[in-house]
Amino acid sequence: MFAITADRIDPDDPLAGLGLGDRPEPQVPDGWTTVQVRAASLNHHDLWTLRGVGITADRLPMILGCDAAGMDEEGREVVVHGVIGDPAAGGGDETLDPRRSLLSEVHPGTLAERVAVPRRNLLPKPAGLSFVEAACLPTAWLTAYRMLFTRSGLRPGDTVLVQGAGGGVATALVALARAGGFRVWVTSRDEARRAHAVEAGAHAAFESGARLPERVDAVMETVGAATWEHSMRALKPGGRVVISGATSGANPPADLNRVFFLQLSVVGSTMGTRDELSRLIAFCETTGVRPLVDSTHDLRDARAAFERLAAGDVFGKIVLTAG
Ligand SMILES: NC(=O)c1ccc[n+]([C@@H]2O[C@H](COP(=O)([O-])OP(=O)(O)OC[C@H]3O[C@@H](n4cnc5c(N)ncnc54)[C@H](OP(=O)(O)O)[C@@H]3O)[C@@H](O)[C@H]2O)c1
Repeated sequence: MFAITADRIDPDDPLAGLGLGDRPEPQVPDGWTTVQVRAASLNHHDLWTLRGVGITADRLPMILGCDAAGMDEEGREVVVHGVIGDPAAGGGDETLDPRRSLLSEVHPGTLAERVAVPRRNLLPKPAGLSFVEAACLPTAWLTAYRMLFTRSGLRPGDTVLVQGAGGGVATALVALARAGGFRVWVTSRDEARRAHAVEAGAHAAFESGARLPERVDAVMETVGAATWEHSMRALKPGGRVVISGATSGANPPADLNRVFFLQLSVVGSTMGTRDELSRLIAFCETTGVRPLVDSTHDLRDARAAFERLAAGDVFGKIVLTAG
């Protein structure tokens, strides 16, 4: 079958290790099943893998891709939850299983014609969501859902700041936060992306690092070092920053004086449970909110799609289609 792989690790030039070509059919352990992939979205995670973050060279070549929508063995339309973990080992939450992994870390990922997954990782795809839209939900959108509705402590009417407007998680945060009844502010380095973010539901958009009209209840961080200081300064006393990514660097100064003096909370968040994905799908159905798609590309044109992701000039999700 045709698949997109990380063939070697290159921290400085991640696309140098990108492979496109035929791979063996997936192996299907007991309790697992095969999905015929119709659409799979790219995530920054795929670039991290090519850079050697979260994977070691002995696991290469590895099929990339953390999420997908497609057809199961009985011909049903399904969404693939990309977290491989045991809820019982995580106190009822598979994201807290110490042995948790994402598809493409230990087991082959979704950027392929077929992928093997545990049966419990399949959820029904509603007819009202296209395969392309559904393929955006299990990683970036699920991460945004958990950040906002499980981890943030926000209540309807509160103000939330989303750092970095254009990213896959950030666009999901804006759309979900608006539909969830929050006042949504967003930052971006780019004027056009600020304008897009307002069209996509933000109440206001600011230049990265700009002084805000007032302090906010919570900040949603995926940018990391480039925006961390601003996130700390933006919070009200007692405010909370929820962080699920650090694209621009993971070790900014911690600003500890501000953390204790203003009694701030720094909360990590990663992916989401199968149950949260099920609720996210229902949320999209009931509110009419749909993932914002930057572009779609045939699986065989994956290199162009990866170049677009790596250049960072995106607004929304990049999706690969197969079959
Ligand atoms: N923990 C999890 O479960 C989880 C799940 C999904 C993603 N993530 C992480 O979250 C991060 C975002 O993921 P994504 O897929 O949404 O990535 P992405 O689409 O590549 O988004 C990156 C965004 O960061 C913003 N940014 C601002 N300043 C930047 C700078 N100096 N350098 C680079 N980018 C900057 C950009 O927004 P502007 O250009 O508009 O400023 C850009 O649109 C990644 O680090 C990813 O690994 C984590």
